[in-house]
Amino acid sequence: MAFGFRQASPCCFLLLFTLLPFSSTAQSYSNRTLGSSLVAQDDYSAWASSPSGDFTFGFQKIGNDGFLLAIWFGKIPEKTIVWSANRNDLVQKGSKVELTTDGRLVLWDQRGRQIWAAVSANPGVSHAAMLDTGNLVLASQDSRVLWQSFDYPTDTILPTQAMNLEKQVIARYTEMNYSSGRFKFMLQSDGNLLLYTTNFPFTDAVTAYWSTQDSIGSGFQVIFNQSGYIYLAARNGTLLNTVFPALSSSNAQDFYLRATVDYDGVLRQYAYPKSSVATSNGTRAEAWTTLSFQPSNICKRIVGRGYGGGACGYNSYCMLSDDEQRPICQCIPGYSFIDTNDIRKGCRPDFGFCDEASQKTNLFEFATMERADWFDSSYEDFEGVTEDWCRQACLSDCFCAVATFKEGECKKKRIPLSNGIVDPDVDGKALVKVRKDNANDESRWTLIRVGSVLLGGSTFLNLLLFLLTLMMFSRLKRKEASIGIHPQKLMPTIYVPSFTYSELEKATNGFEEELGRGAFGIVYKGDLPSEPRKSVAVKKLDNTERNGEQEFEAEVTAVGRTNHKNLVQLLGFCNEGQNRLLVYEYMRNGSLAKFLFKSSRPDWYERMKIVFGTAEGICYLHEECSSCIIHCDIKPENILLDDSLSARISDFGLAKLLKNDQTRTITAIRGTKGYVAPEWFRNMAITVKVDVYSFGILLLEVICCRKNFEKDVEEEDRMILADWAYDCYVGETLHLLVEEDEEAMTDMKKVKKFVMIAIWCIQEDPSLRPTMKKVIQMMEGAVAVPVPPNPTSFLTAI
Ligand SMILES: *[C@@H]1O[C@H](CO)[C@@H](O)[C@H](O)[C@H]1NC(C)=O
Ligand SMILES: *[C@@H]1O[C@H](CO)[C@@H](O)[C@H](O)[C@H]1NC(C)=O
Ligand SMILES: *[C@@H]1O[C@H](CO)[C@@H](O)[C@H](O)[C@H]1NC(C)=O
Ligand SMILES: *[C@@H]1O[C@H](CO)[C@@H](O)[C@H](O)[C@H]1NC(C)=O
Ligand SMILES: *[C@@H]1O[C@H](CO)[C@@H](O)[C@H](O)[C@H]1NC(C)=O
Ligand SMILES: *[C@@H]1O[C@H](CO)[C@@H](O)[C@H](O)[C@H]1NC(C)=O
Repeated sequence: MAFGFRQASPCCFLLLFTLLPFSSTAQSYSNRTLGSSLVAQDDYSAWASSPSGDFTFGFQKIGNDGFLLAIWFGKIPEKTIVWSANRNDLVQKGSKVELTTDGRLVLWDQRGRQIWAAVSANPGVSHAAMLDTGNLVLASQDSRVLWQSFDYPTDTILPTQAMNLEKQVIARYTEMNYSSGRFKFMLQSDGNLLLYTTNFPFTDAVTAYWSTQDSIGSGFQVIFNQSGYIYLAARNGTLLNTVFPALSSSNAQDFYLRATVDYDGVLRQYAYPKSSVATSNGTRAEAWTTLSFQPSNICKRIVGRGYGGGACGYNSYCMLSDDEQRPICQCIPGYSFIDTNDIRKGCRPDFGFCDEASQKTNLFEFATMERADWFDSSYEDFEGVTEDWCRQACLSDCFCAVATFKEGECKKKRIPLSNGIVDPDVDGKALVKVRKDNANDESRWTLIRVGSVLLGGSTFLNLLLFLLTLMMFSRLKRKEASIGIHPQKLMPTIYVPSFTYSELEKATNGFEEELGRGAFGIVYKGDLPSEPRKSVAVKKLDNTERNGEQEFEAEVTAVGRTNHKNLVQLLGFCNEGQNRLLVYEYMRNGSLAKFLFKSSRPDWYERMKIVFGTAEGICYLHEECSSCIIHCDIKPENILLDDSLSARISDFGLAKLLKNDQTRTITAIRGTKGYVAPEWFRNMAITVKVDVYSFGILLLEVICCRKNFEKDVEEEDRMILADWAYDCYVGETLHLLVEEDEEAMTDMKKVKKFVMIAIWCIQEDPSLRPTMKKVIQMMEGAVAVPVPPNPTSFLTAI
């Protein structure tokens, strides 16, 4: 590493050099006064350092591309940049930063063109100072701060820094390219804190992939305090949500800390021990270690959530590294990276699909990838078919790039394939269509790539790709090896333990305490004889409408495989002769119905948190878990509450578990009256949209704390909540819905927004109802809520 020692006053420089021989950069402690300047020259040109030397402000050279006017950690060898003025516009040698005589901090390029300027709204700037917090300030004679870099974060925030409403932190583009990239962290003007993908090369928000759901819309400031604690605070200072906890070791002072939205889209909190710097004899290689990060699995979070290539770019797939800390992006077999320096640009196929030469079906074969899927790229879907049928269907369709097959369901997918994922939670396999080649050994993909590429294209391109292929060969080998070494990680056997009837009889003390009765059977409280004793809810299924032994266990496994914080986990089952029982986690706080319809009205924010969790849980069932599950019976009685009052959906998968045949006569209607979507009564296909309908009714009930149907109301037009809510919306009298609810009354903007979302959900026409994913985006504020039509307009049109 080259060290820059210029620009310091020489006496200081010598002294420092003796004291801290390896702390590299010379320290210029003095504040910079009007008229002083620095020219970009060396790898590190320091202009101002903080009193402790922890932070340096100046020019840092970025590869051979130019210079950033930046703030960096001054004492560590990496010189990690925490802020820069010109991230999207590197300057060349000879460029200059100057604190002008009129108090502006200006960056000029070597031709004298102004690239950037910091201008205080108030007059009176007398000096620029690099503070020990990492904040660069322009201040007046009496040290009043008139401008500060903390107000204009780039991709990093530091302890003592706060992020106010409408502020955002944008990831850099790649590891070595500091310009604005594909992901951002922002505190929206509506008070929601989220991570978003951007519509690169612009920075507008596209898909939200993480948010603080427990405090929807009530955030005011993100605070990073000196203990390393990062949290969202309300306007009154109340702590709403922890983003990252404080350091567990008591002494945060011993570490340099930062939180950065990395170019891979993950928000990470990093630490670097200060001691390693002070005692360094030059041989010790310390590095930043990750303390915590969000979201926990970015590969899964962006899946199924709309536009864009996902966490990894098109035609690739994302999987977590072995230590589960970093997303790894790989091309699917038969495809190669468009740009190996920027793998998120995605991958291109090494062969043509629909050109004339590719029309013969016997030119292609399949590479099988277990537990892989591209959720957003299907264009045709077939049920009740065999894998062979699926293969043939894809081979004979030149648009088909990949077919996924699981349990008789075949989905054709087209390029560009987006949001690819390989994960133990993905069910089934992907058949990736590749051009046939005579090679059979491990290197076949490489050979296919070379062979097919050489068939067409310019000679120059061929040569280039050929070299690229050779370069990537070793990397590819490594990838294959890593998949081979951890089969259990990629393909875990999901095991739902089975209990004997007498075990469960004992656990429930002879089915003594009844917790509730549902459409499918009675639920009893029980205690498993584990250490410590674990309370469970045991559901004894009715004997009617049974399906076969094997089907039952297959469904139990499918249900047991779902895993989401808003679902009640299935812990086991019993399948003995006539007796079929399911064992669930016990939810001490009962159901949402009990919570909602009691005499005292529960807290508005708590209610909002519960609907949000419910929406997330349903969305997971519909889109993210391995086999799409339609709940068919969403209602407050089936939303349980855990100890922290988070929503936990119960009884999912039961519709399928109990009866496979989808007859749709009125007697077979599975849902509960009032929450049941109209298509159950008509000769229409039952889709996930039936749950959206039920969710809409539930949302209205949660907003208003009353049941959808109440016959003991004074005004007749208020009997059915869904109708009344629509009338209030049209008549602009929404306050009537929440009349005695002070908290909601002060939050009418959100009441209106949520009523509008509910009206969209209860549209009679299922195709007008949004998906749950869209519902969440609207609730988060990630997309606007359009004006909803009258829910019954469809009915009258028939
Ligand atoms: C440098 O500027 C800071 C911030 O305005 C101020 O607190 C400090 O006293 C100044 N130091 C000197 C030596 O002038
Ligand atoms: C960084 O990436 C951007 C966006 O692709 C590009 O315009 C710019 O030239 C890159 N910068 C460097 C130094 O490569
Ligand atoms: C940071 O915030 C946490 C939680 O509010 C608090 O316990 C801790 O004392 C704070 N640390 C500092 C240095 O303010
Ligand atoms: C602060 O605001 C939050 C929500 O915005 C609220 O839950 C809390 O009760 C308020 N606390 C005080 C002390 O006013
Ligand atoms: C530098 O320090 C490390 C650990 O503190 C020690 O292992 C190493 O031997 C030292 N090297 C030299 C050259 O003193
Ligand atoms: C939820 O359960 C906890 C722990 O048992 C209890 O303290 C709390 O009062 C319960 N809340 C409600 C609303 O029932």
